[in-house]
Amino acid sequence: MKNVLVTGVAGFIGSHVAQALLKRKIEVIGLDNLNDYYPVRFKEENLHRLETFPGFTFHKLDISNLDGLDEVFRRHRPSHIAHLAARAGVRPSIAEPFLYEQANIHGTLALLEKARLYNIENFVLTSSSSVYGNSQQIPFREDDSATDRPISPYAATKKATEVIAHTYHHLYGLNINVIRPFTVYGPAGRPDMAPWLFIDAALKRQAIKKFGGGETRRDYTYIDDFVAGFINAIERPLGYEIFNLGNSATVSLNEFITIVEQITGRKLLIDNYPAQPGDVDLTNADISRARNYLSYAPQTSFPEGMEKFYRWFLEHRQNQ
Ligand SMILES: NC(=O)c1ccc[n+]([C@@H]2O[C@H](COP(=O)([O-])OP(=O)(O)OC[C@H]3O[C@@H](n4cnc5c(N)ncnc54)[C@H](O)[C@@H]3O)[C@@H](O)[C@H]2O)c1
Repeated sequence: MKNVLVTGVAGFIGSHVAQALLKRKIEVIGLDNLNDYYPVRFKEENLHRLETFPGFTFHKLDISNLDGLDEVFRRHRPSHIAHLAARAGVRPSIAEPFLYEQANIHGTLALLEKARLYNIENFVLTSSSSVYGNSQQIPFREDDSATDRPISPYAATKKATEVIAHTYHHLYGLNINVIRPFTVYGPAGRPDMAPWLFIDAALKRQAIKKFGGGETRRDYTYIDDFVAGFINAIERPLGYEIFNLGNSATVSLNEFITIVEQITGRKLLIDNYPAQPGDVDLTNADISRARNYLSYAPQTSFPEGMEKFYRWFLEHRQNQ
């Protein structure tokens, strides 16, 4: 690998992927439009972490800006692309579907065009476990046709990018590994996701919002486990392949609440709400393909990962 273009580099997962590459002495060209979906200062903090590495260059750029992309590709000639930029989050996508379409679909198409024009060796596209909707085939396998029936605009945009990417593989022989992440959490995690919201609420003695009865289950993936699999996906051109990157164990919302209470030593205050439209009942990854092709081997149990996240939170986010 000569150098990797990492989109969404100022975000949670993108900054971790970039850091792992830089630690291996691989040059990283980072792109991000630094949008205000959550506080920009958190993204700037992520960038400061990366700027301590000499191999890091950053461009503030929207990935749907074709001319801007051209300049970046001409100047740096990346050999690989790790595409993580997106509008994330299921619930806000229902309120703002056009925003999600623009960033996720249009933005991905722009990158695929540049990837084929500049002969990229391998393109990793970050999709989402949400493409499985409420599939009844458990655990979720990559060939599940339930992904043809997404249940939120966010999931629909992610599925659309997988489909467009396949076309680019078919027409131009572009190597594309599609990654479907399953609820990734850990240090520098997103402030709109439950691990952050629950720890924050516990520390501030504020109520959490609990949607539904607490039986919904999620397959939570610790960031370091995820990044190890993702880096192998960048390194290994395989034609067109789709991979689940999850932990493959699930945790119910009620169990999650108990774990947060144990870690923080505080009883959570709870405001109850009905289940939200677009939310899925369960996510659970079959990771055998990723094990076989990407040597993916998640190590971190949810309580262990949450303990690490909690320690990071106390140091970096308390009172913010
Ligand atoms: N965190 C998870 O659990 C999870 C689960 C499934 C999928 N994903 C996917 O993983 C990727 C990274 O997610 P994350 O959790 O790090 O989210 P994040 O919001 O922290 O990171 C995304 C980054 O992309 C940037 N971005 C958004 N639109 C852009 C655009 N048009 N041009 C340039 N930059 C843009 C944002 O500013 C942000 O820094 C996303 O594609 C997301 O959909 C994440």
